[in-house]
Amino acid sequence: MRTVLPFNDGWLFLAEDAAPEQPDSGFERVTLPHANIILPHHNFDNLEYQFISTYRKRFRLPEPRAGRRIYVDFDGAMIASTVWINNHNLGDYEGGFTPFSFDITDYLLENGENLLTVRLDSTERPDIPPFGNEVDYLTFGGIYRDVWLRYEEPCHVTRVFVRTWDVTTATPKLQADIYLNNTSDAEQKINIFYRVSFPGQPGASDLEYGNINVPPHTEMTLSTLEIHYAAGVKIWSLENPNLYHFDVKLQYNDKPAPYGDYVSTLFGFREAHFDKDGSFYLNGEKLKLRGLNRHQTYPYIGAAAPKRLQEKDADIVKFELGCNIVRTSHYPQSPHFLNRCDEIGLLVFEEIPGWQHIGDDDWQGISLRDVQAMIERDRNHPSIVLWGVRINESPDNTAFYTRTNELAHKLDPTRQTGGVRNFITSEFLEDVFTYNDFSNSVIDPIHTPHFVTEFNGHMFPTKTWDQEERVVEHALRHARIQDKAAGMDTVVGAIGWCAFDYNTHREFGSGDRICYHGVMDMFRLPKFAAYFYESQISPSVRPVLLAATTWTRGDRSEGGIDPLVIFSNCDEIEVFTGDELVGKYTPDREAFPNLPHAPYQIRNVMPLWNPGRFQDLRLLGYVNGQVVIEQQIASDGLPHQLVLETDDLELNADGADMTRLVFAIVDKFGNRLPFTNQAVTFEIDGPADLIGENPFALIGGQAALYVKARHEPGQVTIVAKTMRLPGAITFLTIK
Ligand code: GAL
Repeated sequence: MRTVLPFNDGWLFLAEDAAPEQPDSGFERVTLPHANIILPHHNFDNLEYQFISTYRKRFRLPEPRAGRRIYVDFDGAMIASTVWINNHNLGDYEGGFTPFSFDITDYLLENGENLLTVRLDSTERPDIPPFGNEVDYLTFGGIYRDVWLRYEEPCHVTRVFVRTWDVTTATPKLQADIYLNNTSDAEQKINIFYRVSFPGQPGASDLEYGNINVPPHTEMTLSTLEIHYAAGVKIWSLENPNLYHFDVKLQYNDKPAPYGDYVSTLFGFREAHFDKDGSFYLNGEKLKLRGLNRHQTYPYIGAAAPKRLQEKDADIVKFELGCNIVRTSHYPQSPHFLNRCDEIGLLVFEEIPGWQHIGDDDWQGISLRDVQAMIERDRNHPSIVLWGVRINESPDNTAFYTRTNELAHKLDPTRQTGGVRNFITSEFLEDVFTYNDFSNSVIDPIHTPHFVTEFNGHMFPTKTWDQEERVVEHALRHARIQDKAAGMDTVVGAIGWCAFDYNTHREFGSGDRICYHGVMDMFRLPKFAAYFYESQISPSVRPVLLAATTWTRGDRSEGGIDPLVIFSNCDEIEVFTGDELVGKYTPDREAFPNLPHAPYQIRNVMPLWNPGRFQDLRLLGYVNGQVVIEQQIASDGLPHQLVLETDDLELNADGADMTRLVFAIVDKFGNRLPFTNQAVTFEIDGPADLIGENPFALIGGQAALYVKARHEPGQVTIVAKTMRLPGAITFLTIK
């Protein structure tokens, strides 16, 4: 039978290129995902993580081989790996964003201790995408995704590709390609069964596909399995992201059960299509796309974020930022992130690694390999609706991009391609004209379908603690472009640059190694622009009412707060200062005619020279005539409380699980005070560690560390202290 075991634990790490005879004693014991160095959140040198390191894992086979082949599967290691088993060189893999595997069977000691070694080169190798020129993001280093140990019968399923069509008709259809590999010297006679099931829905039974003979040392694809559903299916949509299982079972005619193979693939019945009419259709219905770009990096840990943090990012983009699409700029991202997008109903535009630069033939060869690796890994995800097969913002290259497009279409006939460009005259070889539009507007398309894949970003970097006018303007720029795109029939939508601030090279960003381009900071905490995105959520999901102000009289140019900008999905808002009702207002439909929920821009609420008005601000949001939400902001400007909170109350005792620990200093109504930069000191007790700077001087009144579980279960207590305010305490359980 097939066995797949996590292989993340018990690695040894040395931050140098170790010789085989170098003793383990100098190595550090680590668990994957692993960053080759923990860095401060900014102000570091990009060379600090660019070195060659050595990972070792000594292991005995966790279960007997029983005639099976054994593989090590790496989900991702940055950026070039050379792998040995018991001093036998298995080969190299060049590339940090796509998975790779080695068959280790022939060199294993079945009853003794084995040594797996990875020499990991985390330098910016110009021969590997995205490198060769300047790049506006950091890749960091380490075996930063999961590793697995896989046992397979000699003849097994290597991949399954499930596709669906006619999903909205009375007879939805499914076709599955099943890829088989017979690694043995003998022909294998196998019988194949399959099953399509909806979790929680009993009654699905195995169906027989039939008998097949697989010749020795042969890979073959069975692509004829087509199923028609007369009874209908549950469609995958953004509101109801229904996932099905497609299970394949192999039985060997010469070996009875338990020998065999079994693979379960999640998929969804859905149809996604970018049309020449300029619109995007999901399951036949027109959907305007509104999204943000996501980099996979985090403060301190680089890209080495475990499953829980990956999933949290998808949740933030969908549930906190109200987006319906995310672009995985500029590379394939974690399987955990994509799985979560499937589960919650968040569309994805995924693209190959790169940034503006195209290298030589070998480099392009790696890039083509990336196209293949990305699509073969990810084509069952219902969330993915578009493949990006150009190097982001690179020059035209007819030969190269003809090949990437052909390859993508061959590997996945169901999805369209895009290729992100930043010049409108660029050659259109793809299906969707994906365009980074930095005009501070949305230009009229010359090709359809036209999709704005970036805007804002470097045009208006904004920090959480910038002057209020700037933070408000940053939010309004996102609102204006999303409004414009929403109103253009020939534009399928817009993906802003970007969701989260990110670490970058010194050539970009603000010099401290951060691009402050996010609608949230790098800790995934909101700027006012995040409030704008959040306000587009339907009030039937939840009411949103967020004033884009800290309610101070003298921070904006010329003083006062004019206009008072509020991001809300309410029909009307009543504004009070103290007990005085200033007025009842409606959204600014004139300035934002197309958005689902236009921002409010209210004049004359708090002119500078009206001291009587400078009382606490109180806002009441109405939907259908009823008050559904309230916000208050203190006028005293005083720090009231240090708040401390983890995103999760429980972590797994696996040595890798992490949650975010958010802290902030807030006013008496719980609003963050953006100019408060006091130091906060942390103490932790129990089987977990804090990752991050301690003490931490608040940034914009807030920041975050991460709590990482050790291997033992137990209770964890975290205490935070700061001057002049009571300390804060929070607890979590390691299970
Ligand atoms: C784009 C680029 C992004 C980022 C952005 C900053 O040109 O594609 O990766 O650098 O600019 O605004």
